[in-house]
Amino acid sequence: MSQNAPYVLDMKAGIYTWCACGLSKNQPFCDGSHSATPFRPITAHITEDKKIAWCGCKASNKKPYCDGTHAKIKS
Ligand code: FES
Repeated sequence: MSQNAPYVLDMKAGIYTWCACGLSKNQPFCDGSHSATPFRPITAHITEDKKIAWCGCKASNKKPYCDGTHAKIKS
């Protein structure tokens, strides 16, 4: 887990790689830190400029997006 809350960001349309391992220093995006883990980033195709709630707890059932699962995690 990188944080127990989503990263809510205004995004431009484009392709992004979401960090699945929680180790990236560039949350919520991949910086290659997963290389020694079994995790792989998830590619997101954002088709229009909009606000996105990226999952920060890494436990969402709708990765890479927040689905509220973080509220059930005890920190
Ligand atoms: S931050 Fe992971 S489900 Fe909300």
